[in-house]
Amino acid sequence: MEINSSSHSTHHKAGIINRNAQMTPCAPPMGRPIVSRIRSTRFALCRRQFPAVAVWDGLRFCPNRQSERHSSSKSPSALLELTPLPQTLKQQAAEVVHSDLPSGTSVTVNGWIRTIRKHKKHAFVNISDGSYDKVLQLVFTDPEQVDDLSVGVSLKVNGTIQRRKNLADPYEILVDNYDVIGGVPEEEPYPLQNKYLSQDYLRRELPTIRFRSLSNGVTMRFRSRAVSELSRYFEENEFIQTHPPLITSSDCEGAGEVFTVVSESSATPFFGKKGYLTVSTQLHLEALMMGLSRVWTLAPAFRAEKSITSRHLSEFWMLEAEVAFVNRLEHIMSLVEGLLRTALRRLKESGELNSVLSVKTFLEKQKLHDGEGEDKDQEITHAQVLQRWDGMLRDSAWKRITYKHAVDVLQQAESEGKARFETSAEYGDNLKSEHEKWLASQYAHGPIFVTQYPSQLKPFYMLPTPGSNGETVECFDLLVPDLGELVGGSLREYDYKRLKATIERVDMDSSELEWYAELRKWGSVPHGGFGIGFERLISYLVGIYNIRDVIAFPRWVNHCVC
Ligand code: 4AD
Ligand code: MG
Repeated sequence: MEINSSSHSTHHKAGIINRNAQMTPCAPPMGRPIVSRIRSTRFALCRRQFPAVAVWDGLRFCPNRQSERHSSSKSPSALLELTPLPQTLKQQAAEVVHSDLPSGTSVTVNGWIRTIRKHKKHAFVNISDGSYDKVLQLVFTDPEQVDDLSVGVSLKVNGTIQRRKNLADPYEILVDNYDVIGGVPEEEPYPLQNKYLSQDYLRRELPTIRFRSLSNGVTMRFRSRAVSELSRYFEENEFIQTHPPLITSSDCEGAGEVFTVVSESSATPFFGKKGYLTVSTQLHLEALMMGLSRVWTLAPAFRAEKSITSRHLSEFWMLEAEVAFVNRLEHIMSLVEGLLRTALRRLKESGELNSVLSVKTFLEKQKLHDGEGEDKDQEITHAQVLQRWDGMLRDSAWKRITYKHAVDVLQQAESEGKARFETSAEYGDNLKSEHEKWLASQYAHGPIFVTQYPSQLKPFYMLPTPGSNGETVECFDLLVPDLGELVGGSLREYDYKRLKATIERVDMDSSELEWYAELRKWGSVPHGGFGIGFERLISYLVGIYNIRDVIAFPRWVNHCVC
């Protein structure tokens, strides 16, 4: 939404500046450096007229002269003349509320029609633009004006602000005129009608347009904000963000789930030998860590897993970090706990959790009203999402138990009739998903680190537990209620000879891994790291059942739609 003050004298009194540089009388003239524009009479006049708001920094008008002095004395280039984007509905709403824009202010807004209600004397059209979860109500005084409109159409609307007493929707737009930017074919009804649609339906039937839905919109925005908060924590803790390769020459986890990269146009291997899509960037992160000490990345990982579960994708994102000069597993677990707690607390404080919850509540009501059939997503209620966040943000530190202790607890629970598993937990076997979920939900009532698994269950690179005779390794899985494994991490073997011996013992191709082993040759240091399944994290926090619904274009076996 843009604010148009050019033709409205009341706007001048209110000190409102037109965002559209071509229309406003006080926007700086285009094509000249700002330094000369500041001197220009026109701009000076503008500053006199609107002392509180008239400083243009190229992207927005700074709120006061202080910022002008600050930015122009420090860095004149900050005053470059750049063309502002049309405002989003979210930006506009913030401005209307915080700058107290009065009723009658002319504005332009853009968006897609969500709903249309036609009455005798008025018509109401709600539009959204995906910048936040709210809609903006447009009021038409002549109901016939909406006769050509339908849900899904994109609009550019000129109108005036009408302030309301309603705190949730403090204003609406009284429409003067509008342009249809993009219509919807009459013969093909817009598929995203305003009724409850399950995640499964949206993914299967509307894979590209689902981002306009309330549920996908809030998830995508949450995902974006989560990346920002996680990055911020790393930045504050002196981690260097790095970009390891996605094409590799080795299978990091050694689980045989790699996709091979081939070139359609060459008969011989493109790289002169086999190339794979990475299953984890860990090995390259370790190389980066050996020079930079603390490194992290958020990158796609690819696994040719055939397991079709709500927790597995063939292409997913993993947030990984590697830290030098640490020789206790506790360092890595504390890093994971600190990272997640801090990011979650900030996401909660900045209102992201509330947005998720209010959409969830709306969908719960809509589902009840529309009376659709079974739906796993709606089984994760508003209350459960809150419980998940409370569990992660609890006052006490997250529980830590060894794998051995975990198996004891599971066996005891089963023998006492407190738990019933399809497969009983056995020492030496991997924990099954049902065990992981039970440990987090019933035993820890929140996140729990399970440490020191038997070495034969884990990849070759992990450091044997001192004194265990190589039986267990210094590793952990972080388990959370309802989901199970969210994070995997470990200390790494940092001795060249010992690592080479392990690679040979587990029968891996040592020539593929020589570069990795050699990292231990020159000034090796004890180190460790972890990987968080990013879609698992997001789905857990927003209460979406299937991780396919928190990634934009999910891929799994036999599914690569668009
Ligand atoms: O436990 P994983 O396999 O650990 C690693 O790959 C280590 N190299 C990470 C490291 O230490 N740098 O994978 C890490 C996490 C899992 O805990 C899980 O949350 C997620 O990645 N994950 C998947 N997420 C979606 N789809 C899949 N197929 C996944 N496989 C693992
Ligand atoms: Mg794992």
